Amino acid sequence: MRDAEELLTLRLRAAVSAAFGADGPVQDPQLRRATRPEFGHFQTNLPLRLAGPAGVPAARAAERLLTALHVEDVCLPPRVAGAGFVNLTLRPRFLAEQVDAVLHDEHLGVRRADPPRRVVVDFSSPNVAKQMHVGHLRSTVIGDCLARVLTSVGHDVVRQNHLGDWGTQFGMLIEHLLEEGHDGADLDLTALDALYRAARARFEADAAFAERARARVVALQGGDAGTTAVWRRLVGTSLAAFDEVYARLGVHLGAEDAAGESTYGPDLPGIVAELTGRGLLTESGGALCAFLPGFTTRDGAALPVIVRKADGGFGYAATDLAAIRHRVGRLRADVLVYVVDARQALHFQQVFALARAAGWLPERVQARHVAFGALLGEDGRPFRTRSGGTVPLASLLDAAEERAGALMAARGSRAGSPARSGTARAVGVGAVKYADLADGLGKDHVFALDRAVAMDGDTGPYLQYAHARLHRPG
Ligand code: ARG
Repeated sequence: MRDAEELLTLRLRAAVSAAFGADGPVQDPQLRRATRPEFGHFQTNLPLRLAGPAGVPAARAAERLLTALHVEDVCLPPRVAGAGFVNLTLRPRFLAEQVDAVLHDEHLGVRRADPPRRVVVDFSSPNVAKQMHVGHLRSTVIGDCLARVLTSVGHDVVRQNHLGDWGTQFGMLIEHLLEEGHDGADLDLTALDALYRAARARFEADAAFAERARARVVALQGGDAGTTAVWRRLVGTSLAAFDEVYARLGVHLGAEDAAGESTYGPDLPGIVAELTGRGLLTESGGALCAFLPGFTTRDGAALPVIVRKADGGFGYAATDLAAIRHRVGRLRADVLVYVVDARQALHFQQVFALARAAGWLPERVQARHVAFGALLGEDGRPFRTRSGGTVPLASLLDAAEERAGALMAARGSRAGSPARSGTARAVGVGAVKYADLADGLGKDHVFALDRAVAMDGDTGPYLQYAHARLHRPG
């Protein structure tokens, strides 16, 4: 597809040579997006720049240019503005055709995925016994969006929710729960989250507790029935709470997509054995590490990937290696996509490199870390509650829905009507999702509720409003 900008640039160039002579200075239209909706879609200051060399006033240069410009099929009649600008507005029909072209491959050379590939998209991936926070919002929203787009162009997409459901922290939490008289079934995620923090603090402060917590890790890893039962309940409660958030966001991510870290537990000794067999591991301070060429700190020291920690536990990297082996070997992935925040960039570079060296990630399989920036509050600092805690995702959505309700009330919608609460929900959630997707991927993203939930500007509510109007008969 030739996009509108390229097409108009060609037409403007043709008009310049027709109206001002082919051997005059070639003028690049330098097409810009219009700064305001009333200026249409694009603008150029060509007349301003043509006027001097042609020895005519800018207004005259504009007239001459427009007489020679043929864009009827693409634009509404171009308009001269200010001291020598031309504003261009695309025709609705042209815009509709462009959208169609994206959806139907036979138009204008946009091809559907050819060949379709099997793409594993790892996204959302929150941690059990902790509230999903706004940081997980981006992964969930961006990942779901990518998975949908890839599916709609014809790829075979496998969604994977790499839940943080395994690790030494669960020993600590379970020990604390049991000592406080809980069996895990009696707690919701908010309570679990609070107990998790308490357990952490206790672990740091109380050496005897830390010892019992370590023993509990061994019990959990050894499959002790009582310990495992409590762990199962923690996971169950957490997944139910995550499901609620997914349903609220309209994100497709279900139980069949869940492949938490725990599912790779049995594979980890094998991972270490294979790496050892290939001579890729070095012992360093009791830990088993891989030192890969090209990975050094700023002062040149080698940066290891810790595969097995000194205490015998396996690190985050080991699990990701097992996941790669599974996704390529079992799920038959051609492409691996990880929608994870940018701070984990080094982790993924290292893990991909090590997996390639080990032969689990053959060259024909592409691995991509789709890194996104942080979600910041309006003060430009990491999103925090007033007391300094992380903001649960649900409360952000509550606030957006409330704000959407207020917006509708201001436009005369009656409070309490079912239509209004349904619409407020859709507008609030849509605003949050749109604000997240509209900004550049890699950048940190400042989230301002009032700006996101606004009827005008580049916002979700505006898009939904335009969409609703398009559907209105007559
Ligand atoms: N649970 C991790 C976190 O919250 C994200 C996991 C991302 N996926 C992966 N395969 N490492 O930071």
